[in-house]
Amino acid sequence: MIEIRRFSDNRGYLSVVEGEVDIPFEIKRIYYLYMVPEASRGSHAHKQLYQLMIATSGSVHVTLDDGRNKKTFVLDKPWKGLLVAPGLWRTLDDFSGGAVCLVLANNKYDAEDYIRDYNDFLKYKGL
Ligand code: TYD
Repeated sequence: MIEIRRFSDNRGYLSVVEGEVDIPFEIKRIYYLYMVPEASRGSHAHKQLYQLMIATSGSVHVTLDDGRNKKTFVLDKPWKGLLVAPGLWRTLDDFSGGAVCLVLANNKYDAEDYIRDYNDFLKYKGL
């Protein structure tokens, strides 16, 4: 988890993420998840992709699994970011009403970078 820089004054808050300054990668893509019903998203791993996830509104639970251990992180503040390295199986669920999960990524969309089958993931990890 990283704490994202924030500036506040009597007009409220502003948070900023600069690629290669606040996070260890250049930002090549952003996408965001919203209006998520009672559903689980993700359920895949990436071979190369680095991401930063931020719940800019509401909250979401992100579970990271390296094939041996799982840990669930609660994203519930616009200044809390979760850096997700490659080689981790991720599941996003428990989206609160109105939640928006912003994702910054170090590469363009590449379907070849995905591992979508959990057994393939374990094999990829050599487990
Ligand atoms: P999907 O990978 O199923 O989303 P999640 O990981 O949140 O469960 O993606 C849903 C659709 O969006 C799928 O058809 C691929 C497409 N997509 C893009 O075209 N570009 C992107 O950058 C992303 C993340 C998804």
